[in-house]
Amino acid sequence: MQNSQQYYIDLESKYGAHNYHPLSVVLEKGSGIYVWDTDGKKYFDFLSAYSAVNQGHCHPRIIQALQEQSTKLTLTSRAFYNNVLGEYEKYITDYFGYDKVLPMNTGVEGGETAIKLCRKWAYEVKKVPENEAKIIFVNGNFWGRTIAAVSSSTDPDSYKGFGPYVPGFELIPYDDLEALNAALQDPNVAGFMVEPIQGEAGVIVPQSGYLKKAFELCKQNNVLFIADEVQTGIARTGKLTCCEHEDVKPDILILGKALSGGVFPVSAVLANDDIMLCIKPGEHGSTFGGNPLACKVAMAALDVVRDENLAKNAEKMGEIFRIRMQNIKSPLIEICRGKGLLNAIVISPFKHKNETKTAMDVCIRLKENGLLAKPTHDHIIRFAPPLVINETELHSACDIIEQTILSFN
Ligand SMILES: Cc1ncc(COP(=O)(O)O)c(C=O)c1O
Repeated sequence: MQNSQQYYIDLESKYGAHNYHPLSVVLEKGSGIYVWDTDGKKYFDFLSAYSAVNQGHCHPRIIQALQEQSTKLTLTSRAFYNNVLGEYEKYITDYFGYDKVLPMNTGVEGGETAIKLCRKWAYEVKKVPENEAKIIFVNGNFWGRTIAAVSSSTDPDSYKGFGPYVPGFELIPYDDLEALNAALQDPNVAGFMVEPIQGEAGVIVPQSGYLKKAFELCKQNNVLFIADEVQTGIARTGKLTCCEHEDVKPDILILGKALSGGVFPVSAVLANDDIMLCIKPGEHGSTFGGNPLACKVAMAALDVVRDENLAKNAEKMGEIFRIRMQNIKSPLIEICRGKGLLNAIVISPFKHKNETKTAMDVCIRLKENGLLAKPTHDHIIRFAPPLVINETELHSACDIIEQTILSFN
């Protein structure tokens, strides 16, 4: 007999740490833009595993690469060379236009790597006195859950109870060039690390020109501009990287998530030789980073992005999505914002049948109606479908969102 969804939920609750609060749906299958629960119900996936599944679930080309390589060689560690890593390094550096790549696994490791690289550059090239280097972050940033990541966080849920924190991180407001300029006057500042759009904070899009100007200010002050494109990169916002919207080429580019199409944890840090070669043998690494399986998967995932024109599609579908959301006549929707297929609606706190409802209540009803999305904070719902969605499918999904919102009126 088939187990009920509650059975799986209870298993996780009993044996797993309680560090997540998932929506109560148990998924067992995914294909393209859809996922199915264990009862066979089909849903639009409008989260895409936080933008890791940009190419769609179980993309056949990526799965084929995984299967082929998995029977040949999966891991050598970096103690030895293998016949795939170099090919991948050439491929990804050509693809993004950098001299070198440092391969890692998760997004947060990408962030850690970028910070280490930046600090090393500060001491070796900029000649910042030993242990004095500073990295500037912005309020509302999110780059993962390690001690360094939570040390730079302004979200008490992320950092509270996990101190002491890593020193050398400074916070300024997001989208505030004056604050950035002031902070950059300190000669010990080594880097400015920023998400081009803040995903976890609720799809916060800075004013147009912010990235370009921020990059220029960094250049004027001999500070590295580090773009955390773990969520915004790989075509999500309608260009290969979100920085491209403003013709910015970051000194250090961090990628993750969709770099593998959600098949496998693969992340990467890209930089040119003057920065990347500051790290020497033995100074950084990871057992799994750059393993041949990950390399083949990432090349297939990036091939798909290019061959299926996913950036163009994200741009086009994103415009349609925002128009559809803006046309919903409901007091519940305060605003719809985003770029490409990284969008969010802000929900005003509202009463329905005399009960106060939140974005979570909307997501629960969306789920009942066949679309999965998750609130970020109490009042924001992020909508980020796989980038392979077509116009007909997008309209069907928008119909569900519209009907769900109107059902609360
Ligand atoms: C912008 C950004 N950076 C880094 C990360 C961390 O990635 P990972 O969860 O793979 O460590 C995330 C995860 O959501 C993210 O959104």
